[in-house]
Amino acid sequence: MKPPSEPLLRAGSYCKRFLLTAYLLASMTTSELILVPEYLNKVQGDTLSWRIHGAPTGDVNYTWYRGNESIEGKMLVSYISSLLSWIPGPENTGRENVTDRGFLRITEVEFSDTGNYTVVVASPEGSQEATGWIQVWEKLFQPDITVSQAAVVEYVDIVNFTCHPNNTGDFQIQWYYSYVPVSEDYQWSLSSDNRTLSGWVSRFHHGPYYCQVSNPANSQRSALQNLQIYYGPDSIDMSSIPFFYLGTINAKLGSDVTVYCQTTAQPPCLYRWLLNDTALDVTNSTFSIRTMSWGDVGTYRCIAENPTTQVVLYSTVTLQVHGD
Ligand SMILES: *[C@@H]1O[C@H](CO)[C@@H](O)[C@H](O)[C@H]1NC(C)=O
Ligand SMILES: *[C@@H]1O[C@H](CO)[C@@H](O)[C@H](O)[C@H]1NC(C)=O
Ligand SMILES: *[C@@H]1O[C@H](CO)[C@@H](O)[C@H](O)[C@H]1NC(C)=O
Ligand SMILES: *[C@@H]1O[C@H](CO)[C@@H](O)[C@H](O)[C@H]1NC(C)=O
Ligand SMILES: *[C@@H]1O[C@H](CO)[C@@H](O)[C@H](O)[C@H]1NC(C)=O
Ligand SMILES: *[C@@H]1O[C@H](CO)[C@@H](O)[C@H](O)[C@H]1NC(C)=O
Repeated sequence: MKPPSEPLLRAGSYCKRFLLTAYLLASMTTSELILVPEYLNKVQGDTLSWRIHGAPTGDVNYTWYRGNESIEGKMLVSYISSLLSWIPGPENTGRENVTDRGFLRITEVEFSDTGNYTVVVASPEGSQEATGWIQVWEKLFQPDITVSQAAVVEYVDIVNFTCHPNNTGDFQIQWYYSYVPVSEDYQWSLSSDNRTLSGWVSRFHHGPYYCQVSNPANSQRSALQNLQIYYGPDSIDMSSIPFFYLGTINAKLGSDVTVYCQTTAQPPCLYRWLLNDTALDVTNSTFSIRTMSWGDVGTYRCIAENPTTQVVLYSTVTLQVHGD
């Protein structure tokens, strides 16, 4: 709040008195002095700027102290606005100062700066005092992440992720899958210190995974870890040209016949074919007959195998001569 300007004050005595009253009322009702926020979390090495709220301006002295009381021997720094001068106190380490708006500034914050601080704002109307707490936290470094195996079989293997924090102090560890926090459930379990995350995965859980270390003043996350997931086949999908009906393909002698075998699997399936239980020299998912003859008639079996999950499926179809 600034006093009214000169031209306004000169505009008639009634108006002048009214304005002065309004100004005094505003000063009297100056809100309570508070530190914003009352509790400040900072990381070691940071520069801190602590605001105050509700302080008068104009002819004021802002004085900061260590501790919860305004004791002379605990003074850090004082700003005398009328003299535009700064006076360091006995507790000043050369890192503390006050701005001309009364804000405390501490550079290169150290753990030993943790504690109470008190500010006194003195103006001709009286003085106000406020106390707050500064908590200095460890600067966190990026943690490392390791995984027990980067390639896993869906629903079979248990994968273990381990977080290796690069700090020794007080911090929390949180795991993330696909940027969403992971908590213990039917799939995941955590070690008591949260450093290890264990669980099974399905084909959709490829990642990314990461861990994050945090304290109230800062946080760091590890690199992203992805998984290669092996799965399938769940089913085998057979089709043919000409199409088959009730497990039978009816084709004309001399025509072309193609049988398709499809699966979804990781890694892709290996294929084998049998005709009447005799292995054919085919390793594709497609089997083609050019110019069908009587010798091609019989029961064809497609066998699909995932060499990693060791799941094997097969499907059969019978080829007969049209009209036979
Ligand atoms: C200041 O803190 C000390 C201990 O830290 C306590 O004994 C004392 O009562 C507090 N004084 C005020 C004014 O809060
Ligand atoms: C505080 O800041 C003022 C203005 O920048 C400067 O003149 C003064 O020397 C500083 N005082 C201390 C104790 O650092
Ligand atoms: C501010 O401090 C100076 C120097 O100690 C003192 O002379 C002056 O009266 C103080 N001002 C107020 C408003 O308390
Ligand atoms: C953490 O890692 C940084 C570099 O990333 C290294 O400078 C620092 O010494 C490490 N600290 C610990 C506690 O291992
Ligand atoms: C482990 O994580 C849970 C939340 O997922 C948290 O409540 C707990 O405090 C953490 N414990 C440690 C030691 O980090
Ligand atoms: C397969 O078996 C069927 C029925 O037993 C027979 O008609 C057909 O000739 C056989 N095909 C071959 C190539 O052996």
